[in-house]
Formats: sequence, C-alpha cells, structure tokens
Amino acid sequence: MSTPVLEIHGVHKSFGTLDVLRGIDLTAQAGTVTVILGPSGSGKSTLLRSINHLEKVDRGRVRLDGELIGYRQAGGKLHELGERHILQQRARIGFVFQNFNLFPHLTALENVAEAPIAALKKPKIQVYDHARELLARVGLADKTDVYPRQLSGGQQQRVAIARALALEPRLILFDEPTSALDPELVGEVLDVLRDLAAAGTTMIVVTHEIGFAREAADTVIFMDEGRIVEQGPPAQVLDHPRHERTQSFLSKVL
Ligand SMILES: Nc1ncnc2c1ncn2[C@@H]1O[C@H](COP(=O)(O)OP(=O)(O)OP(=O)(O)O)[C@@H](O)[C@H]1O
Ligand SMILES: [Mg+2]
Repeated sequence: MSTPVLEIHGVHKSFGTLDVLRGIDLTAQAGTVTVILGPSGSGKSTLLRSINHLEKVDRGRVRLDGELIGYRQAGGKLHELGERHILQQRARIGFVFQNFNLFPHLTALENVAEAPIAALKKPKIQVYDHARELLARVGLADKTDVYPRQLSGGQQQRVAIARALALEPRLILFDEPTSALDPELVGEVLDVLRDLAAAGTTMIVVTHEIGFAREAADTVIFMDEGRIVEQGPPAQVLDHPRHERTQSFLSKVL
C-alpha cells in the first residue's frame, strides 16, 4: 500500500494533570474522508491541533506523507523543528475552524490570497486568479470584494474553506465547521464539503452531522476520554456500533 497522507502513532497529550489524548493511532489514505465524533471534552480539537503541531504532543508521532511533523529525528532523538520549518509544514495542512477566523479587515478575495502571497511568495496576479477560482468553486464568485462582516456565517465559512484550499494542502482539517451556523446555513457548507470529498480531497472532519458522516465518510471514528473507542465504515460505526459508549452517544445526537 502507498504511504498514507496522515499517520498518527501513539499520541499522548496532557494539560497539567488532565490526560486529554491517551494513545491515539490513526491513518488516513489519500483521497479519504475521516469523520471524528465524540462528546465535548473527548479531545477532538486537541487531536486536530496536534496534527499540525499547534499543540506539542507529549508522546507519539505525527507523519504527513511519511515526514515527521514538528520534529526531526537524529541519532534516535527527536529535535523540535524551528518555527520557519514548522510553518512550512503547516502550509501543507489546511485548517477550517468553527468560527471561520477570517481576517476582518481583508476582503473575501484578500483572505483567500493572503497565505499564498505571504508564504509562497508567488506572483500576485497568479494568486488572485487562483483565489477567484476558489471562491467560484465554493459558490462565491460574486462576493470577492466584500468584507467578512457583510457575509452570512455560511458564506464566511465557505471563504474560510477557499482559504484553506489556497495553499493546495495535502490534507484539510475541519473542526466543527457547521456548528456556529444557523440551521438553514448548514447545508450550503456541507455541500461544499461533499464536493471536496468527491474531488478526492483528503479530509479529517470533526462534526456532529451524522447524515454527512453517513454519506461522505470513508471512516468514522468515535472518541471518548482521549481514546478512539471504535472506528470503521459509517455503516458499521453508525448503524451497528459495538461499544455501549458509542451507542449511547449516537442515541443522543441522532
Ligand atoms: N490549552 C488547554 N489548557 C488546558 N486544558 C485544555 C486546553 N485545551 C483543551 N483543554 C482541555 O482538554 C480537554 C479536551 O478538549 P478538546 O477541546 O480537545 O475537546 P473536544 O472534544 O474538542 O470538545 P468540544 O466538543 O467541546 O469541542 C477538555 O477538558 C479541555 O478543557
Ligand atoms: Mg472541539
């Protein structure tokens, strides 16, 4: 089998005496969608943040295309990478947050173009053309020149997705991308996620949208108390969960 895009092995993370991740192993092959479910506080966001080294793990390894994230190994020891190198690695991992995190003083187009101009030092004309294409792809061709405050939540989140795509990442992490949205706006963002999935984007999506998981996920993971309780295809985890904790969680969200 080819090298997975993402490989997480034995990841542990504590905050003080609180063990938030207690031995996480996870593999994502190219072009797959992994949906992570789990109760509040189970460590889902911490896991996503550990993947791109926004959190420094206490133990374990994260690899992107086989390359260690956040560290280099020399003589059997790990040495944390310098900030520049970490930023370069992070550019290969898109991150879409619950609260969009757009720059309020930049237009939609400028939000999408900002990282490629700053990070990749690409010619501006090329970056803006690509940014326009990305905004069109998320259905916002007519919103290039407006500011985030002039956009609905669903539109802001679609700009944030276009921004995540702008660096042509190997992997995109989504942390509850629809949970800050009014119910009638959830669908338009999930449609964009479905399009990305169909186009072969490798995605890890933390969400409570079970319908989306059922349709779009290759693998559904249920986390509780810092561990992966079970994982498998949606039909198995969602319809025939093996663990009582998964069953009781699903009975609350379904
Ligand atoms: N920087 C931090 N310092 C201390 N504790 C933290 C920190 N970040 C997270 N935690 C704690 O770690 C635990 C897991 O948090 P995390 O945000 O990963 O959970 P989650 O599964 O994403 O929950 P939610 O569904 O509410 O978003 C929680 O108890 C949280 O309070
Ligand atoms: Mg969270």
